[in-house]
Amino acid sequence: MNKVETSFLHKNQFGDDFLWGVSTAAFQIEGAHDTDGKGPSIWDVFTSQKGKIKNGHHASNACDFYNSYQNDIDLIRELNIPNFRFSISWPRIMPTGVPPINQAGIAYYNKIIDALLSSGIEPWITLYHWDLPHDLELKGGWTNRESVNWFSAYVEICVQSFGDRVKNWMVINEPSVFTGAGYFLGIHAPGKKGITNYLKAMHHVTLATAAGAKIIRNRIPDAHIGTTFSCTHIEPATQSSKDIEAAKRVDTLLNRTFIEPILGMGYPQGDLPVLKKLNAYIVEDDLNNLSFDFDFIGLQCYTREVVKSSLLIPYIGAELISAEKRNVISTDMGWEVYPPALYEVLKKFNAYNGIKKIIITENGAAFPDTLKNGKVYDIKRTHYIQDHLEQILKAKKEGLNVDGYFVWTLTDNFEWAEGYNARFGLIHVDFDTQQRTIKHSGLWFKDFLS
Ligand code: NOJ
Repeated sequence: MNKVETSFLHKNQFGDDFLWGVSTAAFQIEGAHDTDGKGPSIWDVFTSQKGKIKNGHHASNACDFYNSYQNDIDLIRELNIPNFRFSISWPRIMPTGVPPINQAGIAYYNKIIDALLSSGIEPWITLYHWDLPHDLELKGGWTNRESVNWFSAYVEICVQSFGDRVKNWMVINEPSVFTGAGYFLGIHAPGKKGITNYLKAMHHVTLATAAGAKIIRNRIPDAHIGTTFSCTHIEPATQSSKDIEAAKRVDTLLNRTFIEPILGMGYPQGDLPVLKKLNAYIVEDDLNNLSFDFDFIGLQCYTREVVKSSLLIPYIGAELISAEKRNVISTDMGWEVYPPALYEVLKKFNAYNGIKKIIITENGAAFPDTLKNGKVYDIKRTHYIQDHLEQILKAKKEGLNVDGYFVWTLTDNFEWAEGYNARFGLIHVDFDTQQRTIKHSGLWFKDFLS
């Protein structure tokens, strides 16, 4: 294969210990939605409802990773990627969310782990990447305080089953996104709305994050334990005090609400007064049980947001000005392409006391790709990744803590409410034939990692 020369970046600039990887999530790639005893998740149910997902797409087959995992693991090896992040589907392990255990689900993840290890690829497990068992949602899902116990029992099973071979664990993926979109706005599964659902889910998810991490620590003494947060660089639209205050509230909501209790700082109620309503759900020992000393924090950053004050938006009094309105370059998700955002969030999270290590556990871009003569020339994605790596280098040169970079994502996959329209992969997928084609960005990454 031809060398793909497009930048002066070199892997060595990042140091020998820097971690390189690629990230995925069970619901977005596996398919096999009811195979071998798997129970339905909230996303299986949500995608079956009319009008929830663009073009009526669903993930019953997705990338068929369930059957074609060996082929995809071979591709990860071909791309020279040493670390693979994937998630466990809770309803594959426990179809109704609580025991009994589905042994076929355990056997499936054992096959994945063993195939990765025998290919020399390190497995990184995310325990919760949004696919809650539907039966638990019928009992209130994350709005039910029992969810902390349900999740803890599930984590026990996972660490007992896989902890002998898997050392890298992430407890929860992007809590602010799945609670905000799924329990406040209703645009993601389970489609619930309103401030009460949102705040209850927020508190229970935070308790579950610390509880899950403690279980891993107790069961796998040499585990490398993290959890992942979405983070976005926030700027005020103008230097008026109203816009500056509005930007501060949005920053609190999107970037601080979940990390600060984990770090033992409590919820940032002073800068976002609506969070005071959380006090109704906080009982006796909760504040002590919200924190955990993580080995690493995973940051997932894609863009920046520009914010103006708005009296029309309840609780937050702020409005995001879209990339389209600002007339700036954006991706298929409508997110501005703004690489310095990654540097800015690294600076921001470095300012916290108590974060030992930061890994960028997701970064990437959706662009409209075309497959021509067996090739996908996705130069915009290649540049997106290169430009973000430059920002990491800048941060490293300034001595900021950042120890790894995982691209989102391996293959084009099911992008939640966007369905299959938003393609993020280093590898193109023809969803009719399941044919894979490594894109230019994948070839560049392969070369870079060689
Ligand atoms: C965050 C989520 O973790 C992942 O599931 C999603 O596909 C990407 N960002 C892109 O939106």
